[in-house]
Amino acid sequence: MKILVIGGGGREHALIKSIKKSPKASKIYCLPGNGGISCDAECVDIPIASIERVVQFAVDTKIDLCVVAPDDPLAAGMVDALQNAGVRAFGPNKNAAIIEASKVFSKDLMQKYGIPTAKHKSFTNAEDAYEFLKTLGNVPVVVKADGLALGKGVIICSGLSDAIAAVKEIMEDKKFGSSGSSVVIEEFLTGVEVSVLAFCDSKTVVPMVSSRDHKRALDGNKGLNTGGMGTISPNPFYTDSIANECMEKIFLPTINAMNAEGRTFKGCLYFGLMLTENGPKVIEYNARFGDPEAQVVLPRLQTDIIDIMEAVIDERLPEVEICWSDNCAVCVVMASGGYPENYEKGVEIFGLDANTGGIISSDNFSGENITVYHSGTKKDDSGRFFTNGGRVLGVTAVGDSLDEAINHSYEAVGQISFKDAHYRTDIGK
Ligand code: AMP
Ligand code: GLY
Repeated sequence: MKILVIGGGGREHALIKSIKKSPKASKIYCLPGNGGISCDAECVDIPIASIERVVQFAVDTKIDLCVVAPDDPLAAGMVDALQNAGVRAFGPNKNAAIIEASKVFSKDLMQKYGIPTAKHKSFTNAEDAYEFLKTLGNVPVVVKADGLALGKGVIICSGLSDAIAAVKEIMEDKKFGSSGSSVVIEEFLTGVEVSVLAFCDSKTVVPMVSSRDHKRALDGNKGLNTGGMGTISPNPFYTDSIANECMEKIFLPTINAMNAEGRTFKGCLYFGLMLTENGPKVIEYNARFGDPEAQVVLPRLQTDIIDIMEAVIDERLPEVEICWSDNCAVCVVMASGGYPENYEKGVEIFGLDANTGGIISSDNFSGENITVYHSGTKKDDSGRFFTNGGRVLGVTAVGDSLDEAINHSYEAVGQISFKDAHYRTDIGK
């Protein structure tokens, strides 16, 4: 099969490494890909935003399966466009991708169908939002831009003045552009966060092994929210009994609600959960694999991912037995100094093998059980790698225990260097 993966980050690299294990994959393309992905797939230099050109490429190349991984093309209807041109595509249609693309939609869905989540109210007008905040008084709240904002449109506010400033920034100053035409104001929840990715084929939902992201930029969960600075899988707080409760109260009700709304979801649905005193609650849905969740979940997948994706497309997921290895994975993200705000690009990265993009092995470092997933990198003609984004690399180790995986991934991070490299030293701890 000829497979095309849309996207160019660490998540797409993890998908490609997983697809590469399948004996069915004869050729893998990635559009646009990145420096490290070019070691595993043929990168295609077409901008993701031009859906027509992407579809034309898929048709001309006779792609057998196209995996649309990032949020923007899903929300823009790339899966619909591929299907209309006769290309089999993995990912939700536009009318289902709205579960991520509009927080107003997803909050209203949860309210309508009784799915546990933080109490909320939505606003299309800043004055109404200010009035509402004044009725709440000086309490912690979370203010969220309605639309997609690279994971940054969520502002945690400790009290009234912060909350008013957040609404102003989103709705009046338009910090996130048109994503901030509406806002959601919601109750601040406390507890342990869990990410659960699930394969959904419209009626059936099969959760993958759990994980935990570390969203803040600095150690001790300090600093700004980022796309994710590191992950572990499994999440030790996500017990079997909590998993059963989530299936009954959250996962099945969500896909049933989407069907009832005429927005059948097929693809990977991401449940961002908070385990609160009053049970698990949904913080957010994403219509795709998480990044860097994919970099710890997919290395543990033992079943052929192409078989699973085809079963999702054909709505016969219950026929596939999905198996996971009983180990632990840890991914430490190495980012450019300054991320998630301003940072430099084009800085040379040392310690990576020109052919594989992995760590150069030496007498004192074998690199066994380590995978380096590239996010923002590019490679020059002589095989040197350079930074090309905020999150640069995701260094994943698998081990028999969480501690072993943590130690191995930090040992591996120590083999790689670039100017002003920044990473958290407490992933999984
Ligand atoms: P989101 O993009 O909606 O996942 O939000 C980003 C991060 O903000 C989450 O991973 C949480 O850490 C935090 N967050 C979002 N909503 C809430 C909430 N209602 N209460 C507490 N923290 C939240
Ligand atoms: N790591 C969170 C996300 O992918 O949205």
